[in-house]
Amino acid sequence: MSVIPKTPSNLMSKITEATKAITLNASDIDIKSAELIIGNDTVAPIGITYSNQNETASLYFAKELPVGDSALLTMKFSGELNDKMKGFYRSKYFTQSGEERYAGVTQFEATDARRCFPCWDEPAIKATFDITLVVPADRVALSNMPVIEETTSSDGLRRLRFDRTPIMSTYLVAVVVGEYDYVEGKSEDGVIVRVFTPVGKKEQGLFALEVATKVLPYYKSYFNIAYPLPKMDLIAIADFSAGAMENWGLVTYRETFVLVDPKNTSLIRKQSIALTVGHEIAHQWFGNLVTMEWWTHLWLNEGYASFVEFLCVNHLFPEYDIWTQFVTDMHTRALELDCLKNSHPIEVPVGHPSEIDEIFDEISYNKGASVIRMLHDYIGESDFRKGMNIYLTRHQYKNTCTEDLWAALQEASSVPVAEVMSTWSKLQGFPVVSVDAIQKDDNKMVLKLSQSKFTADGSKPVEDYTWVIPITVSTSKHPDKIAKTFLLNKKEMEVVLDDVGPNDWIKINPGTVGYYRTRYSKEMLEKLIPAVSNMELPPLDRLGLIDDMFAMCQAGQTSTAEVLKLIDSYRNETNYTVWTAITNSLSNLYILISHTELMDYFNIYGEKLYRPVADRLGWEAREGESHLDTLLRSLVLSRLVSFRCKDVINEAKKRFRNHIDGTASIPADLRSTCYKAILQNGDESNFNEMLKLYRSTDLHEEQDRISRALGSMSDVVLLRKVIDFAMSSEVRAQDSVFVIVAVAVNPKGRDMAWQFFKDNNQKLLEQYQGGFLLARLIKYLIENFASEEKAIEVEKFFKTKQFSGTERTVSQAVETIRLNAAWLQRDLDSLTAYLTKQ
Ligand code: BES
Ligand code: ZN
Repeated sequence: MSVIPKTPSNLMSKITEATKAITLNASDIDIKSAELIIGNDTVAPIGITYSNQNETASLYFAKELPVGDSALLTMKFSGELNDKMKGFYRSKYFTQSGEERYAGVTQFEATDARRCFPCWDEPAIKATFDITLVVPADRVALSNMPVIEETTSSDGLRRLRFDRTPIMSTYLVAVVVGEYDYVEGKSEDGVIVRVFTPVGKKEQGLFALEVATKVLPYYKSYFNIAYPLPKMDLIAIADFSAGAMENWGLVTYRETFVLVDPKNTSLIRKQSIALTVGHEIAHQWFGNLVTMEWWTHLWLNEGYASFVEFLCVNHLFPEYDIWTQFVTDMHTRALELDCLKNSHPIEVPVGHPSEIDEIFDEISYNKGASVIRMLHDYIGESDFRKGMNIYLTRHQYKNTCTEDLWAALQEASSVPVAEVMSTWSKLQGFPVVSVDAIQKDDNKMVLKLSQSKFTADGSKPVEDYTWVIPITVSTSKHPDKIAKTFLLNKKEMEVVLDDVGPNDWIKINPGTVGYYRTRYSKEMLEKLIPAVSNMELPPLDRLGLIDDMFAMCQAGQTSTAEVLKLIDSYRNETNYTVWTAITNSLSNLYILISHTELMDYFNIYGEKLYRPVADRLGWEAREGESHLDTLLRSLVLSRLVSFRCKDVINEAKKRFRNHIDGTASIPADLRSTCYKAILQNGDESNFNEMLKLYRSTDLHEEQDRISRALGSMSDVVLLRKVIDFAMSSEVRAQDSVFVIVAVAVNPKGRDMAWQFFKDNNQKLLEQYQGGFLLARLIKYLIENFASEEKAIEVEKFFKTKQFSGTERTVSQAVETIRLNAAWLQRDLDSLTAYLTKQ
């Protein structure tokens, strides 16, 4: 590929400093020749040097380059079409007759444009790009902009010149060359939208096409700014390390994050595809048009897009009740990580590329989205939209830092946004608000509130801060209404609530919008519990309550047995998201239990808890049942399978047999559940049967489902074979991590998977170097241990081995091991008493 300036005079840059050297980013690039045009002169460098460490190339000139002159630098260079899923890389696919072929694909974020061409590879150094590709005649070739000129040369190659891009950051440049089919549509506001799929599978692009064409005009009206490019391509890439990438006008996706096969795609996957498409298209404004100044402000991109994807899905699919799901998808997952000592503030200094990779994490995404949701709620929809428009208009084609966003929202709302929000973006962690209520007279209550940093181990925070917390309160008088809103901007405060009687309950943080936890006094909590069982408390409040309680229990502030008792009052629960929260809490507990002799008792507890809801839902989807009931059925049946519930397992096995022999295929939503039912007590023949099923499908989603289910086997010899399979050429590098993770999170495979990692760490390091996939793998390999010895062993191992870009992940996981160990020691006796007596 070459980047050819069309009108050089426009592209000249001023030399601002007298220098004999020009340094650019370049990595694994060989510069063959270079020329610098200054006025009428052309000078060539006398030498070129490279720095692997800094990922740069420097061109040295004999004479000092004169300040003030305009110059144009041209270079001839070659790079490597690599297999690392970054920079310009090759992605393997098979033709319909089974022939192996390769596509050429780019993935530049965060710092890999420099692997494709020498450039100043920083988000704030924006440029326009004129891209020309010379490709085999029968290949599809795409880039950010439409083709404006096409010629065929005598040797049968096509030369495609793409239109000049708007001024943009290097990390958003993209090209793809390969064989694809596509479906096409046009958005209401005139943008041509195409979804490129593997050959022969274009119908699988229809769902994403629908989402993309509908969301473009929605965002246009939401931001009151049109999408500036004439076209928007979405493309499914077979080998892709992230989930999706927002390249301007050419969004790339992992196949499972964009393709929908109506018969074989589960509802939860389809929902996640809608969110992903909404996310990447949100970036076209937030990130592409207005870009963060430096990666320190990455959260502006990712947190914001992670918020807006929910706006999109809520608009297109109101039946998904997606804002409720936000709380378990985003909010509680952020809190879980953010209470660790090894968390980090939203805004974090980063320098080296490996440090940049590491902040694509739950803090930038989930905490970022959660604090934006809190602000959105605080200033209200209308001012929020106004502020967004100010921000995007003012900074379009430029770069920003967090303060610019606060300033725009402040202007629109006349709320001191910067003062409130900087505590959330600059401080690590979040507060726990302790509340007590004192009845003054029949109708008046005084709330006493105080805040301090919430710590995972319940210890007194080393450094305590004061957040500016927008507090909301509801009461049993109107469970769905906000009774009072105020800012808690001190350590302690008293607030008077009117219209509250001695028997009324009071709920802090209704809707679980505030990014904090609540600790109620005993009396307040006792009044809330009945409102859970009779479901007077709205779903997100039932959810918030249990999630907070569980976190307190992990922190040692209430006993696990107490929380299990509380969970009992959720037995009549009907809401999918509340069940998700309960399930998440119990799976943390499951990890502890897996280090004890209590598993059979825990299974009894679980079966009792999930049984009523499973009985209500049954195995068959009802005509016209709600989206959430379909999701809930998959959730509870899969839980019952893992609780070793006999009749559910038998039914799952029966359905699997019918599926295999062609009598009746299992709906996609229940397949994972049935596969696990077969495998968890399965033998070698079941393993082989599953491999056969894997080989019989070319749908990536189905392959994922099967290969991950393999991790639930119980025999460690077979689990070792699962790892061999994961590492074989049958599983793509992008997927093998998740198969190994499935083995590692299974208590039966835990030690073996860790041993495997230790024995093969160099190989794995090479395969995933510098990528977040490696960090993901390491996290799940180690965080489920629960003893001081293991914590020390893991720490020692990573002290001697350099895995750059995983340092913070390792510290977080080691901290989690120690938390597990402390929790187990603290609660084992009371847990044993509770579970064995139930
Ligand atoms: N910009 C990211 C892609 C990315 C992630 C690039 C990490 C480099 C490193 C993209 O917008 C994104 O956030 N993708 C998500 C999926 C999304 C739906 C949350 C991903 O890849 O996980
Ligand atoms: Zn993103």
